[in-house]
Amino acid sequence: MTSERYQFFDQNPKLPNVVEEIKQGLRATPKRISPKYFYDAHGSALFEQITQLPEYYLTRTEISILDENKEKLSHIIDESCCLIEYGSGSSRKVRALINAINPQFYVPVDISREHLNQSARSIHDDFDTLHVYPTCADYTQGVQLPEIIDGAPRCGFFPGSSIGNFEREDALTFLTNISNDIGSGGYCIIGFDSRKPKTIVEPAYNDSLGVTASFNLNLLNHLNRTIGTDFKQSNFDHHAFYDEALGRIEMHLVSKVAQEVTLDGDTFNLSRDESIHTENSYKYSLTEVRELARRAGMSFVTHWEDSQAWFYVVLLRVPESRESTDP
Ligand code: AVJ
Repeated sequence: MTSERYQFFDQNPKLPNVVEEIKQGLRATPKRISPKYFYDAHGSALFEQITQLPEYYLTRTEISILDENKEKLSHIIDESCCLIEYGSGSSRKVRALINAINPQFYVPVDISREHLNQSARSIHDDFDTLHVYPTCADYTQGVQLPEIIDGAPRCGFFPGSSIGNFEREDALTFLTNISNDIGSGGYCIIGFDSRKPKTIVEPAYNDSLGVTASFNLNLLNHLNRTIGTDFKQSNFDHHAFYDEALGRIEMHLVSKVAQEVTLDGDTFNLSRDESIHTENSYKYSLTEVRELARRAGMSFVTHWEDSQAWFYVVLLRVPESRESTDP
């Protein structure tokens, strides 16, 4: 029997009780809703548009850094390896890496089952020796990697400054989990948006076409449709600003009027100018990246950046354990 080049692993990630989670966020002070609710079909399409905006430097800068350095990367990362992508989405950026590294296995991890299956299928079809093992899991809850990859050296991939959505302490927990996943001698490649002047970072979240505003506001329609809230989109404004001291962009939906919102029999009051905090997007200095890596028990191998140092692609490694497994 030949080994299958495609196998779907489903960890049946526990879906949150959305109604309870949203109620809790609307009862809190300040009110908050998680950025994961941006991404319904329309929200994902809007995010795609964001990545093409002139002001949104992140995506195109990271792609060009990866492209310019993939050759070097290919000399460091072994062909026999298993490339594990956390939150693989459309698996677009990873193609250049697969081309460069030519890994044995690719394990895309994503919570969105259908999208994962489609993207992984297409990778399988486009790389004819690659073994593709999509794993449906919630990467914030820890991933059980398929046993079929046991023995292969591992390389994690977490691009896009997705790490910026974690609180700094949670980023440490996440990185520690990756470190355990990839094990002794394993590598990981992570994209960080750098700390930089407000004049550059703020427009990336306040684009002139208002796509980011639509993306933020779309969250309200998404919830209206899926859990039956009765948010009126036109009663809210998009507000995004950079907190230089915290090194983060905050996105908010600001209530233009005093209003109430109902959900499942409960009523929530919003006063005029009261905001719902929808996202934090943390930026990192290289010193902060080094510190994060150190605390996660990983060594900082190297990093690559664009000419303006707007974005960092960082290569980390789990130190090889000294104990031999041989008797
Ligand atoms: C997908 C989390 C990296 O923080 O820049 C883009 C999301 N929010 N515009 C980011 C986002 C507003 C994006 N991440």
